[in-house]
Amino acid sequence: MSTLGVILLAAGLGKRMQSSLPKVLHRLGGKPILSYGLRTVQTLEPDKIVVVVGYQAEEVKRRYGGDRIVWIHQEQQLGSGHAVLCAQGELQDFPGDLLILSGDVPFITPDTLARLIDRHRERGAAVTLLTTSVEKPRGYGRILRNAQGKVIGIVEEADATETEKKIKEINAGIYAVSPRFLFSALQGSTQGNRQGEYYVTDIAATACRRGEIIQAVQSENPIEILGINTREELASMEGLLRERINRRWMEAGVTLLDPPTIYIDEEVVIGKDTVIGPNTHLKGHTVIGERCVIDGSAFLTDVRLGDDARLKFSVVLSQCDVGQAAEVGPFAHLRPGAVLKRNVHIGSFVEVKNSVIDEGTKANHLSYIGDAVLGKESNIGAGTITCNYDGFEKHRTIIGNRVQIGSNTQLVAPVTIGDDAYIGAGSTITKDVPPMALALSRVPQKNVEGWVKRFRENHKKKK
Ligand code: UD1
Ligand code: MG
Repeated sequence: MSTLGVILLAAGLGKRMQSSLPKVLHRLGGKPILSYGLRTVQTLEPDKIVVVVGYQAEEVKRRYGGDRIVWIHQEQQLGSGHAVLCAQGELQDFPGDLLILSGDVPFITPDTLARLIDRHRERGAAVTLLTTSVEKPRGYGRILRNAQGKVIGIVEEADATETEKKIKEINAGIYAVSPRFLFSALQGSTQGNRQGEYYVTDIAATACRRGEIIQAVQSENPIEILGINTREELASMEGLLRERINRRWMEAGVTLLDPPTIYIDEEVVIGKDTVIGPNTHLKGHTVIGERCVIDGSAFLTDVRLGDDARLKFSVVLSQCDVGQAAEVGPFAHLRPGAVLKRNVHIGSFVEVKNSVIDEGTKANHLSYIGDAVLGKESNIGAGTITCNYDGFEKHRTIIGNRVQIGSNTQLVAPVTIGDDAYIGAGSTITKDVPPMALALSRVPQKNVEGWVKRFRENHKKKK
């Protein structure tokens, strides 16, 4: 296997994004744009990966600190050619071929990169370009060929003549090069263009001038060459990615009732025969089991949903676990640390945070359960609140198995309710309740006979 080095360019300001966040950290399918290119080149198992970062370099490095990558800092963003030159110290004497990619071209595939490198090696080229033909080439560098069809250069949109702008073959910004040629060609490049930048694209014309071998590989699939330079392009890539991800899950046996309104992040996993309704967002590392039903209008971030679980219409869930055959919603909110075991039911207007609820327990209406541990087969009546916060600290509520909590109960934590206990409706529980006991804290009821009649008569007399 021959030696391969990679230069990934990610230092650009991303001016056209009009953002204070570096372009490559903008999110696509829930992950920074840069992570796509990085992942793709890693599958080629190169001997060295150099990433050129600049604008907010520390922020970019922080996100990928764990990977075996050489980071190079481009102090001033003087153009893609200058960015490549910044890697010269690392790669000048590299004993193999180099692959240059842009961090803003996320859908390039390992197969196409392998094809590019193979062609480069077969022909012993100095530079091999990746190109494709598109109907709307606006914004891209155009490939210039002579009458014999040989590549003689690349012209950027900003510098192109009206005739050149009509060329539909575009530069992907992805190149296989020999280090010997690359760095000597860039040494001679200038900023003599409309944008006042050093262009890496100049190496094509230089190779031609010097009589070096120059090759071009054409990709049949323009999608993998699309770059992200504007918010509009980011949105349209997000749309393409969404279609691709949705198609993949449908092929894997998941029903999506209205795919254009279903947003599934790249890393999400879904079991077969699950049915997902409209306006559902599955984000982060969410894992959905088999045969689940998500009615719709659901926003899930880093959630685990067991097999046969049901999310009724309109729920928000984050960093929580929903057990097998459990039911949540409509209009429920599960916050971080909520763990629902098998067959738990959480109903409308119920919020659960940092609480474990054991098998078969139900809280079906209007409740807040926070910092609590609930046993099996208990019932939490409508309007029950765990009062967990004293203004300084959070306190725990512990509820045993088969407990019946009456409606409109306040459980003032820390408090423990023993197994099989009953709490009378409308109670404010401040002391522990032993197993099998009934606890009541409400004022005894008083009926005042005939009161209404007397009240009405008095009222009439006053008139
Ligand atoms: C570039 C190509 C263009 C090609 C297009 C494909 C040049 C001059 N033009 O244009 O021919 O069709 O990509 O998407 O290269 N960068 C740096 N430092 C800098 C400037 C840029 O690291 O000083 C990085 C950017 O982060 C980006 C890459 O280089 O990853 C390309 O720069 P960008 O400004 O996006 O160039 P395009 O206009 O897209
Ligand atoms: Mg670009």
